[in-house]
Amino acid sequence: MKKVLRILGLLVAGVVFLGACAATFVQVRGIPSYDKPQVAALTIQATPARLAQGQKIVNAMCVDCHRDPATGALSGKQLTELPPEFGKLYAANITQDPQHGIGAWTDAELVAVLRTGIGRDGRYRVVMPNFVHMSDEDVASVIAYLRSADRQVQPNPTPTPEQEPSFLAKALTNTVMKPVPLPTGPVDSPAPTDQVAYGRYLVMGRYKCYDCHSKDHQTNNALEPEKSEGYMAGGTHFVTTDGSQIPSRNLTMDAETGLGDWSEAQFVQAVRFGQAPQGVLRLPMPKFTLMDEAEAKAIYAYLRTIPVIKNATPEDGAAAVATR
Ligand code: HEC
Ligand code: HEC
Repeated sequence: MKKVLRILGLLVAGVVFLGACAATFVQVRGIPSYDKPQVAALTIQATPARLAQGQKIVNAMCVDCHRDPATGALSGKQLTELPPEFGKLYAANITQDPQHGIGAWTDAELVAVLRTGIGRDGRYRVVMPNFVHMSDEDVASVIAYLRSADRQVQPNPTPTPEQEPSFLAKALTNTVMKPVPLPTGPVDSPAPTDQVAYGRYLVMGRYKCYDCHSKDHQTNNALEPEKSEGYMAGGTHFVTTDGSQIPSRNLTMDAETGLGDWSEAQFVQAVRFGQAPQGVLRLPMPKFTLMDEAEAKAIYAYLRTIPVIKNATPEDGAAAVATR
């Protein structure tokens, strides 16, 4: 009996010791680095169509994190809407400044970070969403726009502060949060006339609605978004600057808890102008003001084809509506 206890004691000590080693490893290793993704050298031409498309995508998908509200420049800011348990993280300066922004990055390096999350120095950019399913043409448009004469991307010498990830953030990036691999072939967008396929592309590739509108970032499936838990049925929690929580909403066609009782016109109005039947939509729901009507209608057409999930989020209750 005594012997058994002693062995047990040793085992427990061993486990505790291993746990401490793992913790020290995570603490010292911090956010991991990876081999630089091999994107072939390329030069992206800035056509008027690309500049317009890039402006549309960047204003929907990037400015909420990267724009300094005080100056209107994409020189970065602290991401206060992240749950505080991740530490203090800062969106980078992505203006054309060669030292503090992306002025010295090549087009291939920008493609690599947008696709995989891995920067030119190999460090994994945590929190920065990866645009795996975005079409090559859309990615080129984003980069053409970042190099454009638009005011918000002009060189701005604001340094990006050192990231201050918490132990939890470091642990997650050493275990479950990983960069995604580069696409293995060309990525094309379906034709806008193929409405449902186009809408599916918008939800997964161009605007990543699924990333916020499924159950939880941690259970999202970056490579096969439709396999994410609670795909498009809402529930991901965000924190506002005053510390209150905002869950994303159920966009499946359940009549009671989703959009089953919405008309196409109501949907288009909510997505393009942030005006839902029950009130104004708050951040972090992006402002898709430059989205065209055909895109919003395609998304609606696609949403009508995906599995319906019943998932009540607070705005479905009268009390939540009253407190807005
Ligand atoms: C949820 C917030 C968020 C969104 C949305 C976002 N980013 Fe980022 N981005 C970040 C953060 C945070 C970093 C810095 C991460 C780090 O240093 O670990 C970053 C880093 C970058 C970098 C690397 C710059 C550098 O010096 O490290 C580029 C380029 C970039 N973002 C471009 C974009 C573009 C283009 C979009 C839109 C298509 C976008 N980001 C959308 C948060 C975001
Ligand atoms: C960065 C995260 C994020 C992204 C990306 C995002 N949303 Fe949202 N969305 C939210 C949040 C959070 C809410 C809830 C806002 C509130 O409570 O005021 C919301 C609310 C909505 C609503 C209102 C639904 C209701 O029941 O009132 C619609 C419609 C919607 N989003 C559609 C979309 C579509 C379509 C896309 C992609 C084109 C998208 N969202 C992308 C976070 C996001």
